[in-house]
Amino acid sequence: MEEFFTVFLLCFSLLHDTAVSTTIESISTMQSLDDGDTMVSAGGTFALGFFNSKEDSMKRYLGIWYKEVVPITVVWVANRNNPLNDSSGLLKITDKGLLVLLNNNNSIFWSSNSSSNLIQQPVALLLDTGNLIVNSNKESGYILWQSFDYPFDTLLPGMKLGSDLTTGLSRNLTSWSSPDDPSKGNYTFQLDIVGYPQLCIRSGELKTFCSGSWNGIRFNGIPHLKPNPIFKYYFVSNKKEMYYGFELINSSVFSRLVITSDGTIQRSNWRDNNQGWINYLSSPTDSCDYYAKCGVYGSCNIDNSIQCGCLKGFEPKFPEEWNQLDWTKGCVRRTPLSCHEDGFERISSLKLPDTERSSWLNVSLSLDECAKICKSNCSCMAYAALDIRKEASGCLLWYGELINIRVLSDPQQDLYVRMSKKDSGNMRRNPEEHEEEELELPLFDRATLNSATSNFSTDNILGTGGFGTVYKGILERGEEIAVKRLSENSRQGLKEFKTEVMHIAKLQHRNLVKLLGCCIQVEERMLVYEFMPNKSLDHFIFVIDGSYELLKLIRISVQTYFSSKTDGEKGILLDWPKRFLIINGIARGLLYLHQDSRHRVVHRDLKAGNILLDIEMNPKISDFGLARSIVGTENEATTNYVVGTYGYMAPEYIIDGQFSTKSDVYSFGVLVLEIVSGRRNRAFRHRDHHYSLLGHAWTFFNEDKWLTIVDGCMRDSINLPEVKRSIQVGLLCVQRNPEDRPSMSEVQMMLSSECALPRPEKPGFFTERDLVGQSSSSSNNKGLSITQLSVTEVHPR
Ligand SMILES: *[C@@H]1O[C@H](CO)[C@@H](O)[C@H](O)[C@H]1NC(C)=O
Ligand SMILES: *[C@@H]1O[C@H](CO)[C@@H](O)[C@H](O)[C@H]1NC(C)=O
Ligand SMILES: *[C@@H]1O[C@H](CO)[C@@H](O)[C@H](O)[C@H]1NC(C)=O
Ligand SMILES: *[C@@H]1O[C@H](CO)[C@@H](O)[C@H](O)[C@H]1NC(C)=O
Ligand SMILES: *[C@@H]1O[C@H](CO)[C@@H](O)[C@H](O)[C@H]1NC(C)=O
Ligand SMILES: *[C@@H]1O[C@H](CO)[C@@H](O)[C@H](O)[C@H]1NC(C)=O
Ligand SMILES: *[C@@H]1O[C@H](CO)[C@@H](O)[C@H](O)[C@H]1NC(C)=O
Ligand SMILES: *[C@@H]1O[C@H](CO)[C@@H](O)[C@H](O)[C@H]1NC(C)=O
Ligand SMILES: *[C@@H]1O[C@H](CO)[C@@H](O)[C@H](O)[C@H]1NC(C)=O
Ligand SMILES: *[C@@H]1O[C@H](CO)[C@@H](O)[C@H](O)[C@H]1NC(C)=O
Repeated sequence: MEEFFTVFLLCFSLLHDTAVSTTIESISTMQSLDDGDTMVSAGGTFALGFFNSKEDSMKRYLGIWYKEVVPITVVWVANRNNPLNDSSGLLKITDKGLLVLLNNNNSIFWSSNSSSNLIQQPVALLLDTGNLIVNSNKESGYILWQSFDYPFDTLLPGMKLGSDLTTGLSRNLTSWSSPDDPSKGNYTFQLDIVGYPQLCIRSGELKTFCSGSWNGIRFNGIPHLKPNPIFKYYFVSNKKEMYYGFELINSSVFSRLVITSDGTIQRSNWRDNNQGWINYLSSPTDSCDYYAKCGVYGSCNIDNSIQCGCLKGFEPKFPEEWNQLDWTKGCVRRTPLSCHEDGFERISSLKLPDTERSSWLNVSLSLDECAKICKSNCSCMAYAALDIRKEASGCLLWYGELINIRVLSDPQQDLYVRMSKKDSGNMRRNPEEHEEEELELPLFDRATLNSATSNFSTDNILGTGGFGTVYKGILERGEEIAVKRLSENSRQGLKEFKTEVMHIAKLQHRNLVKLLGCCIQVEERMLVYEFMPNKSLDHFIFVIDGSYELLKLIRISVQTYFSSKTDGEKGILLDWPKRFLIINGIARGLLYLHQDSRHRVVHRDLKAGNILLDIEMNPKISDFGLARSIVGTENEATTNYVVGTYGYMAPEYIIDGQFSTKSDVYSFGVLVLEIVSGRRNRAFRHRDHHYSLLGHAWTFFNEDKWLTIVDGCMRDSINLPEVKRSIQVGLLCVQRNPEDRPSMSEVQMMLSSECALPRPEKPGFFTERDLVGQSSSSSNNKGLSITQLSVTEVHPR
């Protein structure tokens, strides 16, 4: 945290007898700007003049600084490597529009080098943006020269960091050599356009940090760069130019990006009240950010005590050096590639590799098409989607070794790495291959599971639901497992079932419960999962339905109530930060399912009871993909066999049996509102009205009384903007019309950004709790006559 609040001050003094100084607006060929004079921009934001960088130094520089900021903060210097050593400097403009910095001996210390015979009555003018321009007094639109084209160490709003491809002009930032010496320092910050563009800091020629490639939302290695209330940032790439820049939302705020003399990028804002620059985003942020920290095919994880590891399928090139924590030589493949036999391994949550040796196709190609393109060229080592916001956004393709990879918690970013068939465990299937793959999923035999679960003893039952009964088991080597005995109504043949289970097993994400294997018997089928010790989310958020209200009535604080409980019951309340992490984790897991390359996986039974928690209370979605293996795939869009849980099912699903990723989004919305309110949608009752939880939340949200929806037991831990945002996202997800609901990738962006959200339309099931009745029996319900319902209610464990 410290670094965010470090006030970064540069101290300079404007040595001078201000008595004779004058302020001027512009200079023409008739005037000059003398040492002691300042040129001030029209709105009074910036000033141009002479300064010395150290009190005791006679070195004089011509520069631009914020007029009102004390101590003076210089944003641009003309003669950085050529200071004057007295105060005889003056700035002139020639009749061809050339700016020249001279001393009284007429030696030239600096000059702008754009001149033109055609310019009429040239003037030099300082704009309120901090841009010093030369234009013609006659034609005001024409700019002959501007300081924004020759940046210093500071990127101001409206400046472009990058290249003009038609003129070849490239705009870089170069650090000062020390905080009080503006001469050329060791570090530059620039947009590298060799390969796919990325921002890099260099020390001399050597990269020290690269931002990762632009993915449509941000440079993927700077996850902290998010839509925010201070500035809008953009990356522009077309035939004429490529650049990064930012624009202020409130233009009266002072905001800048600087490369410091020790090689760090800092964004800071000026605070009038505490008179200082507040740094709020720096890169590199930690030791994993340093370029190529773990060598080729290595990946840096800041959460590990030994930060470097090899990517899956790779091993240290020199194990001895590696074990002595010298990671520079990186990793090598376990199994050599064989080109046309190779597959691709999906790796999620990464900072993508250095793009110096990459190319890109900015046309609508799907990931499958990118896989084909990459596979067809044996030197293509990896690919990724060009723009993570879109379905078929084109490809980013890497040639040569992959380097500068780190683990990030940003789950939207997937990289597909070429790998021999042997090593690609959860390999992305090649779209051309249709032959059956060998079953890589471990098969458990019945005897093993019998002994693990004490012959499926009722004491071992963890829960029962529409898909079957779950038992706790302990394998001989002590590993705890959860065994799900699927109910008998599986309609699939053995082969389809195997294929489907294989597919589920390949879905691996930290917010999904891991499938360890299966057991296939003539008469029944079982799935073996990792065991989650901390039960499901419903145990934590719904404080024993109803009793919470009761507690309020008798004015016992919830804390008091629980402190009187046994250890097992204690601490089951979740504070807001944990709940927010859980909401985000579920969103990531669900997004992963929806974006699965081969076929979208629609969960169809997302609910609090299907969110399991690991030891650290990270959420993991369970039971995904099961609807498909149980119900079959006869029709993707509609089904006669509705699987789900009342309260979480979208209207179009219950009524017409129509399911899609948007019906999962609906369930997700319900879940979010339940997590925020601590109330079950299904059992929701209110004294004053008959609305469902959704109707209740929508009404109060629209009356701007959303705080009343929030679970009272989180009172001390809530973060108002996050809670409000979560409620709004929840309400957007439960809108009646599936098309109005956001996709999970949009949900994720909404949750993590600070940009304005649309107003939610009325939710599905506003009051209509009666549609499916208040009991779970519904077979004789109108509208459902052709639909079979399998209602999942997992009973408390
Ligand atoms: C700076 O001043 C010193 C001593 O007065 C002189 O020798 C030197 O030539 C000057 N340099 C410039 C660039 O004017
Ligand atoms: C200034 O001009 C004088 C006379 O022309 C010359 O001797 C001296 O070297 C010049 N000084 C500098 C710093 O150029
Ligand atoms: C401006 O100066 C740079 C070197 O400082 C030079 O490379 C470039 O060609 C010059 N441009 C013009 C228009 O004279
Ligand atoms: C900016 O950096 C690029 C890449 O290193 C270099 O080619 C270019 O000359 C630099 N431009 C300037 C103005 O320093
Ligand atoms: C700049 O690089 C030089 C040579 O590599 C080194 O001696 C000097 O300490 C560096 N300066 C800074 C500020 O890092
Ligand atoms: C891809 O094309 C779109 C539309 O022309 C453009 O906005 C975008 O910047 C391009 N992306 C890249 C990386 O060139
Ligand atoms: C913009 O910032 C200025 C200075 O901080 C502040 O006084 C003003 O209220 C802000 N305007 C808006 C619309 O937020
Ligand atoms: C593979 O891609 C590289 C890099 O783009 C290219 O140089 C090479 O010619 C390609 N090879 C084939 C066989 O297309
Ligand atoms: C499980 O059943 C088998 C055969 O019915 C029996 O031999 C065995 O002792 C039982 N094991 C347990 C742990 O109950
Ligand atoms: C979660 O599980 C771990 C390990 O069983 C246990 O120590 C911890 O108390 C549990 N946390 C909660 C909140 O139940």
